[in-house]
Amino acid sequence: MYRRDDFSDCDTDIRLDGKVALVTGATAGTGFEIAKNLARRGAKVIIASRNATKLAGAKQDIIMDSGNQNIVARQMDLASLTSVRNFVGELRSEPRLDILINNIGAIGLQDRLTEDGLQLMMQVNYFGSFLLTFLLFPLMRRSAPSRIVNVSSLALILGHIDFDNWNDVNKYSNFGYYCNAKLADVLFSVEMNKRAADSGVSVYSMDPGLGKSEFFRNFENDILKNILNSALLHFGRPLHRVATMSVYLAVDPKFETESGKHFRDCKEFYSSWFANDTILTRRVWEESKKLVRITREEDWERAQNNFGSRTQLYNII
Ligand SMILES: NC(=O)c1ccc[n+]([C@@H]2O[C@H](COP(=O)([O-])OP(=O)(O)OC[C@H]3O[C@@H](n4cnc5c(N)ncnc54)[C@H](OP(=O)(O)O)[C@@H]3O)[C@@H](O)[C@H]2O)c1
Repeated sequence: MYRRDDFSDCDTDIRLDGKVALVTGATAGTGFEIAKNLARRGAKVIIASRNATKLAGAKQDIIMDSGNQNIVARQMDLASLTSVRNFVGELRSEPRLDILINNIGAIGLQDRLTEDGLQLMMQVNYFGSFLLTFLLFPLMRRSAPSRIVNVSSLALILGHIDFDNWNDVNKYSNFGYYCNAKLADVLFSVEMNKRAADSGVSVYSMDPGLGKSEFFRNFENDILKNILNSALLHFGRPLHRVATMSVYLAVDPKFETESGKHFRDCKEFYSSWFANDTILTRRVWEESKKLVRITREEDWERAQNNFGSRTQLYNII
């Protein structure tokens, strides 16, 4: 059921010829539509996801839809920090990165620790994107003005960050981990905006609202999975329309001065709720850095080798 197009204000005809955009989770759902939208504007679009077969199919579909041949598919699994680090290493040949859309999200994943010692739901919905963004910052800074869009969810209003337990298994329901991770996505955007001030890299967070995807596909219980996916198909909005919101934040000049804010349906949405607790946002950043082992010398070396000066990265940490 689709009654109202809440995204009609987000339509823009801005072209992106000569720009490079990276969309994570672009093999399905909203990410696929975001990638098509950016490709139609003439950008070189890098699509990242975990499944090589799906990536190849998505790449072909995006080329067919947009007529833009400049689409690059690269494998990356957010459930593995090694995969994220390798992915960033593979981007060494990219001269620039103007847009990063952190779209990957998942629910219904097992309550277990990954090989990195991180709770799986937290890693896929937050820690993986945190590391990716951190490691890509030097390249985005070199490409400034550039923009990062972090896709969150209204579920964040039920989120809670308890640093003693946020990465523990058996502490929250599956939905609880999802809410916590989606809150962390917004808090890290607020903190990054402060740390990256004057760098020319803008960062926004947003809630896409309900979209007609198969978001619940990871649930093991088939009945629950089918009910929830049917509800999304019934009540969700068309994904090509949902995609316009992230694209709008990533391209429209009106957001140049809106970095650090949170959006829903193309409008600012209670940004001050998240921005006011500066102690919390700073701690989210610092604890996340520790958990993804960002202090490892290897990461500094990687950033330096890939994208230039070490000091570029040091400036925001
Ligand atoms: N749909 C909604 O109603 C809704 C509402 C609020 C917020 N959101 C948020 O919007 C974003 C997009 O949602 P969606 O409904 O479009 O999702 P989706 O259809 O389930 O697509 C998710 C994409 O992420 C990829 N992905 C999942 N886990 C991954 C991993 N570990 N490593 C790499 N890629 C991975 C998926 O690849 P595979 O195909 O290989 O799984 C797929 O390409 C998410 O952040 C979600 O939390 C959605």
